[in-house]
Amino acid sequence: MKNILIDLNILLDYYENNRRKQYPNSVQAFDYLKDKEFAFVSSSSIDNFEYIKYATLTKAYPNLNRKQKLTIVHNFIKEFLSFFKIAKTPSYIEIDYDDIEDSQIIASAKAIDALVLTRDEKMLAKYSDMTISPKEFLQSMENQEIKINFANLKKQHFRYYPEIERSTDRVYNHSRFIMGPEIQELEENLCNFTGAKNAVTCSSGTDALLLAMMALEIKPGDEVITSPFTFIATAETIALLGAKPVFVDIDKTTYNIDPNKIEEKITPKTKGIISVSLYGQPSDLDEINAIAKKYNLFQIVDGAQSFGATYKSQAEVYHCDIYTTSFFPAKPLGCYGDGGAVLTNNDELAEKMRMLRIHGQNKKYSHKYIGLGARLDTLQAAILNVKLKHYREDFAKRNEVAKKYTELLQNKEGIILPTIKPDRTTPWAQYSIRIKNRDELQTKLKEASIPTAVHYPKPLHLQECFLYLEYKEGDFPVAERVSQEIMSLPMNPDLENKEIKYITDKVNEFVH
Ligand SMILES: Cc1ncc(COP(=O)(O)O)c(C=O)c1O
Repeated sequence: MKNILIDLNILLDYYENNRRKQYPNSVQAFDYLKDKEFAFVSSSSIDNFEYIKYATLTKAYPNLNRKQKLTIVHNFIKEFLSFFKIAKTPSYIEIDYDDIEDSQIIASAKAIDALVLTRDEKMLAKYSDMTISPKEFLQSMENQEIKINFANLKKQHFRYYPEIERSTDRVYNHSRFIMGPEIQELEENLCNFTGAKNAVTCSSGTDALLLAMMALEIKPGDEVITSPFTFIATAETIALLGAKPVFVDIDKTTYNIDPNKIEEKITPKTKGIISVSLYGQPSDLDEINAIAKKYNLFQIVDGAQSFGATYKSQAEVYHCDIYTTSFFPAKPLGCYGDGGAVLTNNDELAEKMRMLRIHGQNKKYSHKYIGLGARLDTLQAAILNVKLKHYREDFAKRNEVAKKYTELLQNKEGIILPTIKPDRTTPWAQYSIRIKNRDELQTKLKEASIPTAVHYPKPLHLQECFLYLEYKEGDFPVAERVSQEIMSLPMNPDLENKEIKYITDKVNEFVH
């Protein structure tokens, strides 16, 4: 769905009695667009509205004084601004001196990838690929086909558009693009949100893992235990530091590392355990901690998918040495590029990771450790500060979507639904189901315009890059089986009930 920028003539049709009667399509389109996150008015229309509406009031009610007329006009403006967001006139406007107002509106529309909803024949003819009449708009809404988006980042962006624009404009204006004030603000916000004592932002979830293990002094020859059923970064970073990833099979219901199989893999070289909160659900952290304590191992939680999750009512940072996360755009809390963070209640580790992310620097041009260039951009922090403010709402909406999926799929034989243990919560980075005929189902869903994804089709012990570890097929039967059957359905906070119904109807129809 493209954004819609409502032209001034439609606003006036709505707020002018005789025009309301003459142009019912304008009124209907306006009513339809109320409170839609994709509906905008151009900043340039607001003062024009004031001017024109004031003039028509003067003509119709000559006895009203200026103040009375302005109050009426301003109440109308306040009303439509409560329904619609403002799109600014961007600096790359191409001014058409034959119609400056139209060129301003077209420029605003370009800035937000919108169609202009207008009744102006001249504009409709001149900018035919950028405009739509109220009649055409209403018809297109009636015949609208369901178009499902897997993560729908665009919708999220425009939901928070004014706040994000303000926040990023602030960065352009102060131009402290590296380690600007938004970084500290975000780190404080992350601490407030999770209750963590320390938050150190960094350039990605992958670098967060590197920082964590570098702070814990992982070195060649060490062994680190983790899951084979995760994104490559979890084990790749262990190997990158010269240590050996040691895999342990997963639990068949949560798909997280099976704590019952950890101890048999511990050797004198084992230094730590990285559990992964797959799809957002925390692992069995108490059991893992008990093992870590017994053998004096560190515990890192790779929470790239689990920001906001809780384990026994507390953020995961309370149940490990270091919690790492990712702000990759499609993650539950995503930025507009790469980003990540480490959280820890250990002040010493936090201090070390703060240095490690800036080349091991303790003060300018003085380097205590061999480190990384792994800072988060100020611009990304500015965006995250806005998105974090709304994250509880997004978290709740994701849970609603998951609940609805479960409700509508639970009676179908042949589908294994996700299991969330009662003592933990999840942001539902993915809603992943298991089916025997996964590939066939994926193809059929694609034909029905339903995007799906597989997280992950090949467990890490079978990846070419880890051949040197000499694992073979059959070593981790649960991970191997799940990787052949798992499939993620579209998941985002903006999925509508009718879309969930459409998806689940199709899944129920195609699974046999
Ligand atoms: C479990 C897991 N770990 C680590 C990462 C790496 O995060 P990033 O892509 O931000 O480097 C991801 C992201 O896909 C992930 O899902």
